[in-house]
Amino acid sequence: MRSSSDFDSFYQAPDPWGIETATRRDKALATVIGPFVEGRSALELGCGEGHLTATVFRKARSVKGIDISPLAISRATSRFIPNASFQVADFLDVSFADYDVIAAIECLYYLSPAEQEAFYRKMVSEHPGKIFILSGPIIGTNEHRTYFTHAGIEQTFARHGLSLIKWRNLNANRNAGAVATIAAAASRLPLRNKVLEMLPEKFVNQRCYVAQCPTRTNAL
Ligand SMILES: C[S@@+](CC[C@H](N)C(=O)[O-])C[C@H]1O[C@@H](n2cnc3c(N)ncnc32)[C@H](O)[C@@H]1O
Repeated sequence: MRSSSDFDSFYQAPDPWGIETATRRDKALATVIGPFVEGRSALELGCGEGHLTATVFRKARSVKGIDISPLAISRATSRFIPNASFQVADFLDVSFADYDVIAAIECLYYLSPAEQEAFYRKMVSEHPGKIFILSGPIIGTNEHRTYFTHAGIEQTFARHGLSLIKWRNLNANRNAGAVATIAAAASRLPLRNKVLEMLPEKFVNQRCYVAQCPTRTNAL
């Protein structure tokens, strides 16, 4: 796992991943996540500087944003988002109990495989029967790290008893050849949702998943 000072060094300059300008990702995320968070209490893991807290989670009844980077959390706090509170913490150390929804958007792949397994065990035990949202690249391994694959996510969910409710492609993988480049360009057009929906996995960059944790009885 990366440390808080690792992430603080990323955050020396604001918005290190260009999140503020990724408005198409915001819209795609809002479409798939919106109905599950509106009016509910949410725990947003790896919330960074609070961009998604202020946009995608703005209709939640309440949202608690957790991030390991003190710098990111100080910027998130200074947004003064009315329905939000923030905490500096490793998300493996906070309680997952008493939220309607837990979201891990672009952060779970920073954990080692063993830590990810511990994460799912904790979630299934502290968040039974409730909604889990996961988002990240499904491109497998690249020069930076090991991300997810669709089959890997299905296997992980099955191993921990989560039921997949839906998934949605968020954007095309520009490094996946000519088809993906064309798809990425087409995904800027008015019919982008249709283009993204039809995109085969090998041309997809990020995908968002909504799943339900097993009830306590099922988890035994
Ligand atoms: C790529 S950023 C994504 C930010 C935001 N979720 C988004 O998608 O716009 C990943 C964030 O996860 C945070 N993070 C990574 N591992 C963490 C951990 N174990 N506990 C808390 N936060 C963590 C990092 O500090 C960083 O802010």
